[in-house]
Amino acid sequence: MEFFLDTADVDEIREIAAWGILDGVTTNPSLIKKSGRDFKTVVAEIAEICSGPISAEVTALDTAGMVEQGKALKADLPDNVIIKIPCTAEGLAATKILTAAGIKTNVTLVFSASQALMAAKAGATYVSPFIGRIDDTGSDGMALIAEIMATWDNYGVTTKVLAASIRHPTHVLACMQLGAHTVTMPTKIFKQLISHPLTDKGLDGFMRDWAEVEAAGNA
Ligand code: E4P
Repeated sequence: MEFFLDTADVDEIREIAAWGILDGVTTNPSLIKKSGRDFKTVVAEIAEICSGPISAEVTALDTAGMVEQGKALKADLPDNVIIKIPCTAEGLAATKILTAAGIKTNVTLVFSASQALMAAKAGATYVSPFIGRIDDTGSDGMALIAEIMATWDNYGVTTKVLAASIRHPTHVLACMQLGAHTVTMPTKIFKQLISHPLTDKGLDGFMRDWAEVEAAGNA
């Protein structure tokens, strides 16, 4: 079970990394835009903060361009950076070539089990189904995760299923129950997963009582 952060905000990544349970980070062109920073500079900084896989996305649409960008990113950035590739026919070919060159990949923008299977056939290290965006269309994103996991079981597929486009903590728990290998989520959801009002209330009570124990000289 891997928990990734889905952001290019280094302050947020530092904060969650300090919890000791961060396994990786995913970025995409929109998240890089939101950071307002230089692409390679910010990805390199993220890769220093978190030693797990850090997804950096190619922006070429043709196979040769994706392969060239992927190799350049690997050459310029820390070893834990992996190459994120869109799930298109050109992307599949690029995934196959980069995999053969020993470069790890994350095939993204996956919206069907057939796309996930094709990415696995091409040797993708990760495949990223976008749950929230499917829910947004009125369909069931979680049903896609179930379908992919069932298919994976039939063939012992080794490509990791990285559930993406996560909107709430229940998505994370449902993914884990279905056996998805990895979930990438915004910082807000990491925080929601650890928070409970009864924990806060209980802790307040313990602290108040302990202050009285100390005041009585019994600590
Ligand atoms: C995954 O790698 C993507 O960056 C991400 O999960 C997209 O999520 P969104 O639908 O919230 O943009």
